[in-house]
Amino acid sequence: MRAKCSSSHCSVASGINQNRKLGESRPRRDLLDNGLGRTPQMGWNNFNHFPGKLNEELIHQTADAMVSTGLAALGYEYINLDDCWAELNRDSQGNLVPNATIFPSGMKALANYVHSKGLKIGIYGDAGTLTCAKTMPGSLGYEEQDANTFASWGIDYLKYDNCHNNGISPQERYTKMSKALLATGRPIFFSLCEWGYADPATWAPSIGNSWRTTGDIKDNWGSMISKADQNDAWASYAGPGGWNDPDMLEVGNGNMTTEEYRCHFSLWSLAKAPLILGCDIRSMDNDTFELVSNKEVIAVNQDDLGIQGKKVNKTGDLEVWSGPLSGDRVAVLLMNRGPSTATVTAEWSDIGLNSSVIVDARDLWEHSTTTSIQLQLDATLDSHTCKMYVLTPH
Ligand code: GLA
Repeated sequence: MRAKCSSSHCSVASGINQNRKLGESRPRRDLLDNGLGRTPQMGWNNFNHFPGKLNEELIHQTADAMVSTGLAALGYEYINLDDCWAELNRDSQGNLVPNATIFPSGMKALANYVHSKGLKIGIYGDAGTLTCAKTMPGSLGYEEQDANTFASWGIDYLKYDNCHNNGISPQERYTKMSKALLATGRPIFFSLCEWGYADPATWAPSIGNSWRTTGDIKDNWGSMISKADQNDAWASYAGPGGWNDPDMLEVGNGNMTTEEYRCHFSLWSLAKAPLILGCDIRSMDNDTFELVSNKEVIAVNQDDLGIQGKKVNKTGDLEVWSGPLSGDRVAVLLMNRGPSTATVTAEWSDIGLNSSVIVDARDLWEHSTTTSIQLQLDATLDSHTCKMYVLTPH
């Protein structure tokens, strides 16, 4: 007999309606009223591939590539700058100053360029006195002034980090910036980067559009999978307007196999995580492009219902992840985390289907459909591989 998940958050749903109720009873009362993040955000950020290596040319070329590759048309819209874009010192009026060596044309010109491509631009700040790389000031005590500066430049997204915070509670520091952003009148997506320290899923939905649930991801299987697991604990808190964030994608950065990256992209999509690319999209290889441009997988991430898929069964290293989709469909991910080939099985009872239900199973990576499946879905999977499906009941 197969062991079921032991923790409360991955208890097994007994029917599709129960799954629905799970979603509806999410403990999310007040949502941040900025109209953003109705589905998880999609875009790019430089940190995973180019930490601390920003410049105007990189952003221009990345925006160009987002459009020319077709990724923009698939929904990737934010071009986000991470740490190290500003001078270490504010100007005499206390304003943040873009680093003139790397951004000689300034931030308004950069935002105009990104907007001219039909894209949006994100920037990075810190809810402390200094950013994590210590190369630029944080916004603690300057929240309104900095929010106004960002709005005046035409910024659309703020990733707000947690370094050098003087021990002040994150609720206090992040709420202040959230209010300051709202007060600008410009819709600015608010992405909290608090690393999950003070359980942000329990308080951030009312002030942010996403919140990190983990420390920084690294480009290796162990790191990636541990972020997925940590993020899974908070599934019930996510939904339209505010999302759990297990950190940005490493797909295409070279240190995992293509099949491991396929699992990474599948897990993030199923878990309604932000799809923020972290590779050099100017020079993606075909495998990377095939992974991040899979429309059917992206559609799971961007599904209207907005319910985070969860780990619903674990038998040693063999796992079933699943979540409800609009139209009474169900997303299923079968994954082998172990060292050798094995068969992974999703029973209907694992994934919220009554035993009598007959489904068509669309394999989202093979782009093929198997009709009239009953009772269970299984796949024989090599080490560190997965299969992802959408099941449509008859
Ligand atoms: C922290 C964040 C990262 C990145 C760096 C930049 O570590 O968690 O995502 O923004 O700071 O210095």
